[in-house]
Amino acid sequence: MDPTLNQVLMKPEARVGADLAAWLALGGGEGLANAARDPRAIVPLIADADLRGMGGAGFPTHRKWAPVAAGPAGDKYVICNGNEDEPGTFKDRFLLEHTPHAVIEGALIAAVATGANHVVLYVNPHEKQAIAAVGEAVRQWRDLGHLAPVEAAIGGSLSLELVPSSGLYIGGEETAVISTVEGGFPFPRRKPPYPAQSGVHGKPTLVNNTETFAHVPGILRHGAAWYRNLGLGDASGTKLYSLSGDVLRPGLYELPMGTRLDALVFDHGGGLLMGRAFKAVFTGGPSNTLLTKNHLDVALDFESVRARGSRLGTGAMIVVSEGTSIVRKVAEYVDFFSHGSCGQCPPCKGGTYQLTRLLNRIDTGRGVRADLAALENLCGLLPGSGRCGLVDGAVTVVASSLQQFRGEYEALLIG
Ligand code: NAI
Repeated sequence: MDPTLNQVLMKPEARVGADLAAWLALGGGEGLANAARDPRAIVPLIADADLRGMGGAGFPTHRKWAPVAAGPAGDKYVICNGNEDEPGTFKDRFLLEHTPHAVIEGALIAAVATGANHVVLYVNPHEKQAIAAVGEAVRQWRDLGHLAPVEAAIGGSLSLELVPSSGLYIGGEETAVISTVEGGFPFPRRKPPYPAQSGVHGKPTLVNNTETFAHVPGILRHGAAWYRNLGLGDASGTKLYSLSGDVLRPGLYELPMGTRLDALVFDHGGGLLMGRAFKAVFTGGPSNTLLTKNHLDVALDFESVRARGSRLGTGAMIVVSEGTSIVRKVAEYVDFFSHGSCGQCPPCKGGTYQLTRLLNRIDTGRGVRADLAALENLCGLLPGSGRCGLVDGAVTVVASSLQQFRGEYEALLIG
């Protein structure tokens, strides 16, 4: 078994829930103390560690922290995005429930680095244990006087609060997060300006995913080289991979960033159910290009997956075996996106509805050639037509399934 399996973020003894004393007894708080001693060294350290945004984009974390740190003095916000509603992704809820102090400490270190005086834990209310653990963990940081080093470093008082999200899928998009924290409906806005420049009430705002923050205390405690060396090849750190679908041992796996797809599916996941053959994987949540058996050797890090024409996304891998219909799966995911559209942009609302309608017709044996042509036409028309990436994600999965499994679509047509 790999020595780093579950040895950092998911370390069994670190799963102390909301017990702050237990977290501190394990060495928690050391990263924050190091951060408070030299706030200006934090962003270069995060850059040196090559920490990436774990919410899906893999954007270099320091490139979001630096503009917030350089932003005008006054109110600044750090938001931990724990909305997590991408199909097949179930990592952030684990961290928030089992090790909320790692996440909060990471967000507090970000506040020290950027000079933010507001830290918001934005959590999906459907995750009841996560909400309960974070609520209690926040109370302990506040009531037990542990925010003093942060306040000393930023030179003023700090607000630390839990804000439940709307629980809607779109509520996880970062500009929708900002709208919600401001008290509004989670409508995404166009970018730029990026939140780092203009976020909550127009103030510099750092929005990072829960897993991203969870990696930060370890980097501040053990250094950038320690973190980099946890990864394989050129990749840094560990990654939480959410493995699901037709595998024997689905679950959440913390492995070195850059672990190969076949190692995840066969060594850790135990291979496919009932000895079936591997067919494909919906990667990073089903809004990316499908990986097939030709990609089993791909290293699961942001660059390597991109080099093979897809994206790592959240690290979710939904495995599909031979005998399972790709058309049915794609229809289900696009239906999910259709229901998740906020309705602001007509091409997204109407386009995802039309995609679903056409996919369902084909999947249920009522489709004709004109339906397939209409599907392909929409794949050409819709990209870039929404304020956020929702419609693009829906199109990507349809287009890539058409490219790689066109024969399955054609076999279902009746005329
Ligand atoms: P994006 O590529 O627009 O941006 C990535 C991040 O970099 C954002 O935080 C953005 O503000 C920041 N950024 C980019 N350029 C910047 C600049 N010049 N200055 C400062 N900041 C800058 O990606 P987006 O739309 O935020 O996320 C897309 C990813 O999210 C996809 O890979 C998708 O798989 C994933 N996703 C995750 C979900 C989940 O439940 N975790 C749900 C849906 C999608």
